Amino acid sequence: MTSANGNAALEGTLLAVKDLGVEIPGGLQVVTDVSLSVGRGEVVGVVGESGSGKSLTLKAIAGLLPRGVTVSAGQIAVEGTDVARASSRELRRLRGGVVGMVFQEPMTALNPTMRIGRQIAESVKAHAQVSNKQAGAKAIELLGEMGFKDPRHSADLFPHELSGGMRQRVVIAIALAGDPSLLLCDEPTTALDATVTMKVLDLILGLSAERNIGVVLVSHDLGVASRVCDRLVVMYGGRMVEEGPADEVLRRPHHPYTFALLRAVPTKDSSIDDLKAIPGAPPAAGEAGPGCPFVPRCAFAEEACGQRVESIAVGPRRISACRRQELFPDLVEAAK
Ligand SMILES: Nc1ncnc2c1ncn2[C@@H]1O[C@H](COP(=O)(O)OP(=O)(O)O)[C@@H](O)[C@H]1O
Ligand SMILES: [Mg+2]
Repeated sequence: MTSANGNAALEGTLLAVKDLGVEIPGGLQVVTDVSLSVGRGEVVGVVGESGSGKSLTLKAIAGLLPRGVTVSAGQIAVEGTDVARASSRELRRLRGGVVGMVFQEPMTALNPTMRIGRQIAESVKAHAQVSNKQAGAKAIELLGEMGFKDPRHSADLFPHELSGGMRQRVVIAIALAGDPSLLLCDEPTTALDATVTMKVLDLILGLSAERNIGVVLVSHDLGVASRVCDRLVVMYGGRMVEEGPADEVLRRPHHPYTFALLRAVPTKDSSIDDLKAIPGAPPAAGEAGPGCPFVPRCAFAEEACGQRVESIAVGPRRISACRRQELFPDLVEAAK
């Protein structure tokens, strides 16, 4: 079977991104060769410092790139539909109906003047032919699923009457109103404190299991991603530098950037003095050349690293973009 656009290679998976390139105005390439796939029930984390291209990758998947920012290479297929080439009608069906989105700042996603039950109900009505009454009942049901103790009462509240964590739960309810099979979350907990972060992450994890939906969780915080993700994609300078099962990537990183990120994550045994910031700064938009973007900050770089990025399979669904990747597992052992 092939999809409408005839791309058989992208069939069968909930989300399949292949060799994605994204350009900003001026022709600067800010995302290069990103490939990832997400199945139902799977939680995939995309991690990396600010500016590494995580949000633009997610927006490209949602068909929501800002004006002037374009997909310059590769394919994105959601349930076999090529997002970059979809008609506006197909895109409308995908957004909300197949793909739900949760972004960082819940307040900007909510209407401050509308009761939350009504906002969720509007989203239900946007995706299904139901009466106001049915939509209202579904909104209350969703609030219950999001952990609101008295959803009937909560439905009548305005966003400013809720805590940050509760607002983010409302945003998640809105994203789920069309029963999507894929949930895209961009830094969903960045505005929240540590305890609330854990609760929201547990909610997302539970949704993935109970509703059998695929989740892409973008975070600059490796600690957040490692808590809930089955697989991790590590991005740097617009490129994927490493990918694999989360526990393996964390236990045996095969890229110096992942290794450096890991050393910067606090563990319950580490004191604040143990936190080692990565020296230097990531490349600015479009600054990265053809070689590995981490070279200027890498203590292990050789001349060849600046010329071409090697993507090396280091196991099943396990990739490192470091040509010296064999160095790092032993370094991790030595650092323990
Ligand atoms: N609308 C835009 N116009 C121009 N440049 C942008 C735009 N959005 C993002 N960028 C640039 O693209 C790069 C990747 O951004 P982004 O995907 O937001 O990174 P992240 O989410 O990992 O912090 C950054 O250098 C950023 O400055
Ligand atoms: Mg971002």
